[in-house]
Amino acid sequence: MSCKVVIGAQWGDEGKAKMIDYFTRNSDIVVRYQGGANAGHTVVVKNKKYIFHLIPSGVLHKDKICVIGNGVVVDPALLISEFVSLEKDGYDVGKRLYISDAAHLILPYHKALDESMEEFRAKKIGTTVRGIGPSYSDKCLRIGIRAGDIFDMKRLKEQISLVLRLKNLKLERIYKKDTYSDDEIMNILKRFKKVCGGMIINTQHFLHESIRAGRRILLEGAQGFALDIDHGTYPYVTSSNPTIGGALLGTGLNAFNIDEVIGVTKAYVTRVGAGPFPTEAKGEEGERLRVNGGEFGSTTGRPRRCGWFDIPLLRQASLINGLTSLALTKLDVLSGFKKIKVAMGYRVNGKKIDYFPASSLYDADPVYKELSGWDEDIARCKKKADLPKNARNYIDFIESHVGVKISIISVGPDRSHTFKNK
Ligand code: IMP
Repeated sequence: MSCKVVIGAQWGDEGKAKMIDYFTRNSDIVVRYQGGANAGHTVVVKNKKYIFHLIPSGVLHKDKICVIGNGVVVDPALLISEFVSLEKDGYDVGKRLYISDAAHLILPYHKALDESMEEFRAKKIGTTVRGIGPSYSDKCLRIGIRAGDIFDMKRLKEQISLVLRLKNLKLERIYKKDTYSDDEIMNILKRFKKVCGGMIINTQHFLHESIRAGRRILLEGAQGFALDIDHGTYPYVTSSNPTIGGALLGTGLNAFNIDEVIGVTKAYVTRVGAGPFPTEAKGEEGERLRVNGGEFGSTTGRPRRCGWFDIPLLRQASLINGLTSLALTKLDVLSGFKKIKVAMGYRVNGKKIDYFPASSLYDADPVYKELSGWDEDIARCKKKADLPKNARNYIDFIESHVGVKISIISVGPDRSHTFKNK
């Protein structure tokens, strides 16, 4: 049995797609388990850049099966456009993609409500405006539309009509926004049925059968630990659980099915949108990290906030997820820094703490340790021994203070820039 989970260990954008691409080689099935088109997973293959919002990036490997699990919220229009463009590029997605019949859909009113809520809030979250929160809210309110609902168009039409009465009332009366007609929404759903109907199955059953048949499964997380609705910096979080619990709920697999949990972390930290970020580097250092790392959101294009590695954050990510190893990405971005800061703990209201206080991070002042940097370009390094001494020290330092083995190191954007840390 082999079931690995790849989880973001920071605030998302850790380079998960590249790691998933790496692990896909030894997997048969790749499964997305939560989030939606708020994610933007970038993979570079032979200088061609692919950005995936919904379809698991494993689809670039021609013999792999991809699954969109029940925990994902699916925007039908976006899924179709991703599907069509991949098919145009020669990928036979239609034969290799399954969509859970229990996955909830994101419809235009969800996006309109996401935007309206952002305008309404005194303190903006800075959502991706992809309708993620409103769709998960409908799921909890039990008025969501699920992928499998398209197989009974008569019932679906009645449900849409009911839901739209509520949504239009809200959009028109509270937010003074345009409303949607039943036909408009039904046309989207009919097209979804036409293009994707053949891919919609009971994925929970499929995954358990696959495990029984000895197929190797890779679970692909979106966002990251500190954006988790339960464990992250609430309310500045996403509306799902990117952590290990979400991986189980969003696929129907159980804890005994999982045998590896790989946390992906950048060699520094980034965050998109609002919310506490104690190790944020605001001046010239932050700008340098942003420019060197190309830190602009792949979904929204927004500049990412950048800062220094945070040990308590990683330790907490490890505890919550039961990380069995770490993949360290973008180490090359630190080349050229004379000194590299690492937060060892925080001072909160005059008291020193060494854990991640998700709810009081606004008042947390990081306590830094400074390590010596390196000047060399490390993109051509193929093993740890090729790295400059200070880069090796940096890796060892993180590993020993987080308490989790760094098993993979990435020193550039391409597939070839990744090696095992033996
Ligand atoms: P939402 O997920 O669109 O509701 O946005 C909630 C928060 O999560 C915002 O701060 C977003 O910037 C952040 N967020 C959502 N998806 C991602 C992601 O894939 N990477 C990084 N941040 C994300």
